[in-house]
Amino acid sequence: MPDLVQLTAEVKKLAIEAGACIRKEREGFQRNCVEKKNTHDYVSYVDKESERRIIKRLKELLPEAGFIAEEGSGSFLNEDYCWVVDPLDGTTNFIHNNCPFCISIALRSKKEFLIGVVYEICRNECFWTYKGGKAYLEDKEIHVSNISNLDDAFIELGFPYDANKYRSFVSELIEKLYGNVCGLRLQGAAAAELCYIACGRFEARIEGLLGPWDVAAGGFILQQAGGKITDFEGEDTWTNGHTVFASNKLLHESILTIIKSLPLHK
Ligand code: IPD
Ligand code: CA
Ligand code: CA
Repeated sequence: MPDLVQLTAEVKKLAIEAGACIRKEREGFQRNCVEKKNTHDYVSYVDKESERRIIKRLKELLPEAGFIAEEGSGSFLNEDYCWVVDPLDGTTNFIHNNCPFCISIALRSKKEFLIGVVYEICRNECFWTYKGGKAYLEDKEIHVSNISNLDDAFIELGFPYDANKYRSFVSELIEKLYGNVCGLRLQGAAAAELCYIACGRFEARIEGLLGPWDVAAGGFILQQAGGKITDFEGEDTWTNGHTVFASNKLLHESILTIIKSLPLHK
């Protein structure tokens, strides 16, 4: 087992350095150099260069580890250790010079998460944790909020790119929540948003389709801060992405009941 304290410090450092490069690229960024992966799902040379840079450093830090990375460096491997990387989460925000956007890096073994680091570039905030430790924002320990009343819940939503498939779920979800919670927000960077629940800014986040790289580090940080993350059935498969519901734990059951009543489940 690697020394997780030391390795986490190295991963934080590399995430902050990779974030500084993304911030610099943003200064002269032209929207017309963006490529489309799917309808409304974009990627740029900045995502790809960030992934190349991060993977190169991670290989030096732990040569025996495999990778799952959004832009294709590596695929699921059977190694004992695996890095799960989103080199730029919130690409659509980045393209439009809108906040937040971040870097997400997790290390997992076959059974469990070992490290989670999310560096949000716009606010210069580094969230991190490691197995056996607590969850932190910079050097301060963080915890989920103690809000237990739905009426006071501040909730983040994510809209998957495939609008045809998720339209009715999203519209019925808004119909159920709007007016019954303290506020709804769409922010566009799932990894950072999970950390915002971890540090008590929000109470929950709901999205019908994500990738493993979107949720690995932020989900682990959230768990370490006392939160809960499941799929829309309340099960533990959230690590694959797909349906992902995260909360401060206190509100998990009441919001899950609402989610289960919606069209994805009917
Ligand atoms: C996206 C963001 C967004 C979420 C999308 C993700 P990307 O990741 O996390 O918040 O709604 O489902 O794909 O493409 O910007 O890395
Ligand atoms: Ca992402
Ligand atoms: Ca991405």
